[in-house]
Amino acid sequence: MYPLLGFSLLGFLVSRAVLGAPASSDCTGTISSLNDVAAAVACTTVNINSFTVPAGQTFNLKLLDGTTVNLNGDIHFGVQNWAGPLFMLTLSAVNGNGHTFDGSGPSYWDGLGGNGGVVKPAPMMKISMSGTYKNVKVLNSPARTYSVSNPAPLTMTGLTIDNSLGDQPNSNSNGIPAGHNTDGFDCSTHNLVISNSVIHNQDDCLAINKGSNITFTGNSCTGGHGISVGSISSDAVVEDIFITNNVITNNDQALRIKTKSDATSASVSGVTYSGNTATGIKRFGVIIDQVRRSATIGTPGNGVKISGINFSGSTSSISVNSGAQRVAVNCGVGSCTGTWDWSKLKVSGGTAGKITNFNGITGFSQ
Ligand SMILES: *[C@@H]1O[C@H](CO)[C@@H](O)[C@H](O)[C@H]1NC(C)=O
Ligand SMILES: *[C@@H]1O[C@H](CO)[C@@H](O)[C@H](O)[C@H]1NC(C)=O
Repeated sequence: MYPLLGFSLLGFLVSRAVLGAPASSDCTGTISSLNDVAAAVACTTVNINSFTVPAGQTFNLKLLDGTTVNLNGDIHFGVQNWAGPLFMLTLSAVNGNGHTFDGSGPSYWDGLGGNGGVVKPAPMMKISMSGTYKNVKVLNSPARTYSVSNPAPLTMTGLTIDNSLGDQPNSNSNGIPAGHNTDGFDCSTHNLVISNSVIHNQDDCLAINKGSNITFTGNSCTGGHGISVGSISSDAVVEDIFITNNVITNNDQALRIKTKSDATSASVSGVTYSGNTATGIKRFGVIIDQVRRSATIGTPGNGVKISGINFSGSTSSISVNSGAQRVAVNCGVGSCTGTWDWSKLKVSGGTAGKITNFNGITGFSQ
């Protein structure tokens, strides 16, 4: 058998060379079930039809460099209490053509997210690619939605994350909103643009934990915890972040930088806000807090250095609800440095917050 196989393989290679046949990856693969994936990913065009991914399995697309993926129908995921992810993508350009990945969130939601209750697949969508990822909808993620890493520049654009159903309680959530920890985008990466996308969720719209050259522009964030840098842990470096022209509606806070009080050797430098609009903000218009979570505005740590936080370019206008604070800055002793230009920030409503351990803000008073 082996010599025969060897012979026919050789014959194939020879005939290809003689006839000048195209490279074998220059083909179109079609996926209508997980069984089709292995063959389809050998092609540099992959078309995906509507199907249901069996419960407890990852739809894992590990593609050749330069592959284009077209979504031609909606993808559903069977429900099972496991860690996930539900969809995992490595390398390629993706056009979702407006089709949907449906995570069946209501079958998992219990108001507890990642903090308890049943195990929920998280993230739902693990994206590791460069190039362009566009026109994809995600409906009802069980918990965190996108985790993004990219080896070279990546633009994610025209996306929808619709977890709006999670604003309502369900029979498992004891009267509180059923969706919880449904972060939009969790990014620890470099050279990323997220633009013109619509996010409705119950946690951070964007959370940048570390990385550089990240732009978040022209997006709409509804119902969650706002646009966040953080939480920042020990050794994390965040620099050159641009948060521009976003619309933030009915979030706990509009714009936030949060660092852990016990973090050391970390820094956040160069965060520029321009042209953002926020309304219906429930807790803080802008909050920079060196204490994370439960101890909001508690005793700050100073192991994370913060510098170059500016509101420049076009005016950012934030309107907070009557019970909310306009601006709170809670720095550790000596950890916020330099001059911060806040001349293009306008905040109305609510009450003024406190500025602690820092007097470098110019062009703004509340
Ligand atoms: C920043 O990221 C963008 C988009 O990913 C990329 O085009 C650009 O080259 C990056 N800039 C630098 C200085 O690396
Ligand atoms: C922020 O503004 C200050 C004061 O104008 C300026 O010195 C600094 O370079 C700015 N930082 C960035 C990242 O734009």
